[in-house]
Amino acid sequence: MTRRILVTSALPYANGPIHIGHLVEYIQTDIWVRFQKLRGHDVVYFCADDTHGTAIMMRARQEGRSEEDLIAEMSKAHQRDFAGFDVDFTHYGSTHSEENRELCAEIWGALRAADMIVEKEVTQLYDPEAGMFLADRFVKGTCPICKAPDQYGDNCEKCNATYSPVDLIDPVSTLTQTKPEVRTARHLFVRLEKMHEFLEQWTQEDDHLQPEVANYLLGHFLKEPLRDWDISRPAPYFGFEIPDSPGNYWYVWFDAPIGYMASTQQWCKKTGRDFSLYWRNEETEIHHFIGKDITYFHTLFWPAMLKVARFNLPRKVHVHGFLTVGGEKMSKRKGTYITAETYLKHLDPSYLRYYYASKLGPRQDDLDLNLEEFATKIDADLVGKVVNLASRSAKFAVELGLSNRYPEDGGLFDHAAQAGEAIADAYESCDYNRAMRLILELADAANRYVENAAPWKLAKDPDARASLQDVCTVALNLFRQIAIYLAPVLPRMARQTEKLLGVPIEAWSDAGRPVLGIPVAPFQRMLSRVDRKEIEKMIEDSRETESAGSDAQYNDSDQPLRDEPLAEEITIDDFAKVDLRVARVVAAEDVPEARKLLKITLSLGGEERRTVFAGIKQAYQPEDLIGRLVILCANLAPRKMRFGVSEGMILASGSGGREVYLLHPDEGAQPGQRVH
Ligand code: 2FM
Ligand code: ZN
Repeated sequence: MTRRILVTSALPYANGPIHIGHLVEYIQTDIWVRFQKLRGHDVVYFCADDTHGTAIMMRARQEGRSEEDLIAEMSKAHQRDFAGFDVDFTHYGSTHSEENRELCAEIWGALRAADMIVEKEVTQLYDPEAGMFLADRFVKGTCPICKAPDQYGDNCEKCNATYSPVDLIDPVSTLTQTKPEVRTARHLFVRLEKMHEFLEQWTQEDDHLQPEVANYLLGHFLKEPLRDWDISRPAPYFGFEIPDSPGNYWYVWFDAPIGYMASTQQWCKKTGRDFSLYWRNEETEIHHFIGKDITYFHTLFWPAMLKVARFNLPRKVHVHGFLTVGGEKMSKRKGTYITAETYLKHLDPSYLRYYYASKLGPRQDDLDLNLEEFATKIDADLVGKVVNLASRSAKFAVELGLSNRYPEDGGLFDHAAQAGEAIADAYESCDYNRAMRLILELADAANRYVENAAPWKLAKDPDARASLQDVCTVALNLFRQIAIYLAPVLPRMARQTEKLLGVPIEAWSDAGRPVLGIPVAPFQRMLSRVDRKEIEKMIEDSRETESAGSDAQYNDSDQPLRDEPLAEEITIDDFAKVDLRVARVVAAEDVPEARKLLKITLSLGGEERRTVFAGIKQAYQPEDLIGRLVILCANLAPRKMRFGVSEGMILASGSGGREVYLLHPDEGAQPGQRVH
């Protein structure tokens, strides 16, 4: 039976680039979508940029342009990155669209009609200079519990206490560095508790959620009354104004999931499809793929909203874990915060697709990218076992073509054909790790066959042409079965296989019938071994320690380097390797495209000049730097940055942003002098 399936991945925020952490989800979803298509189902896959909220508004202001301009640019970049990783959406929309506004209004109307909206006073910190209420991350102050200074608005990193920003001691707005006031405003809330019974049932039945997710909800949120959900924000806010509450905007998390529907709607309009077939027809299965941090929104608010507005409920919400790199959180300082763009400059996207597939299971465990293992796995599994199978036999088959009858192979082909169902089950349940293991077992068996049959020996014997043709026929058919099973993960290899044998791969069931009596095209390289140097370069390109601070994006970045533990002990000889010099700033200019960088020209005495890009824009005006002495790490390898080559690093302390302090020797020190 053909299933109609609508699939979504979470909508990425428009205020940052796509990175390898995001890609876990998009690759996971794309594999599932491709698998379902190969099984013959009717599948659509929607996504969009998540464009609203304070962060986008602030960034647009800072960059002196409209939000629309900023989100248009980000959408282009996101779509380029996804395409680079073969993530194939049916449509990629935006939450800032008329379709979304209309759907929000419709769902809002339904919530009002069901008496689910209440108005309440909310007390918050307000920055009179910026003219806005401050979200938690825009306030800093002293922790009311342990008195640690410099803590964010909602929790303390020192003692882990959580509190309301109004309780912070000596709060400061990070937008204007001024003291905020306490003000109240009326906010609109969704009374989620009204849906408690429904949610308790929906989350626990029919395999809508992975068991651990269902249990978590029951043990945490559903064991007590559900709290009212604050769904409005007062102006100024980049979003949609609430039609029956002028001056108030829907909070970004209200309109974000509705963006799934809006993206569907845009596609329906474009292609003349019927929207209600997807969102108001019980036969359509809706599958959401999300990360575990947004479970709450997708398993409580979202089903409640859909239920009240009488739309289809999700058939399943698939929750995955986070990505770590080398066992740690991605870090700009360590060069492991790798954007999609940087990855693609150095490595083949198929590597990452396969590596993630081999690590993803059906549960929401975190996934570690270990770069050593990454390289070994690609070389050993994909190049060594899979591609090799084709390359070793295809070259002999070019002259001969494939036999007209499938030769005796000891049952290998039949066995692999039968394994198709177990592999399909593994894909269906998102157990890609298991699917990859089953496929590799087939590759192992096929390789043993080729080893025994040794086509390279047969090729030397002019009387063994028929046997050689038979061996190649078996090897290439076993290879083709594997390429079909891997097609959801490695669509490029499927296309290469089609070219090699001149037969399209259209369905999973193609793995059940051998291809015979056909010519074989000259073998073209399918996948290279992993170049370790490129991995190193990718890390170097991603590292953002460039002098004080980095050109970091909003959110997603590491915490500032406060309380940084001491580095490993070094010897005096180690220290002597670092050549520090006194230098004088002779020119300094803004790099308008970079949020934090200044371009600085230094004199090392005499004629010698160095250009350095330093992330100190927020702390220093270029004109104030000219003539100043600084300390330069002069023997650092030059680094190519987006704006030019940086020839060294200026020393400074501080945690970035405005908190940067340049080190500078007293006047009298001579440019060029070594610092010991
Ligand atoms: O967490 C995030 O990155 C959100 N932008 C996801 C939104 S998913 C959906 F609800 F729109
Ligand atoms: Zn504290």
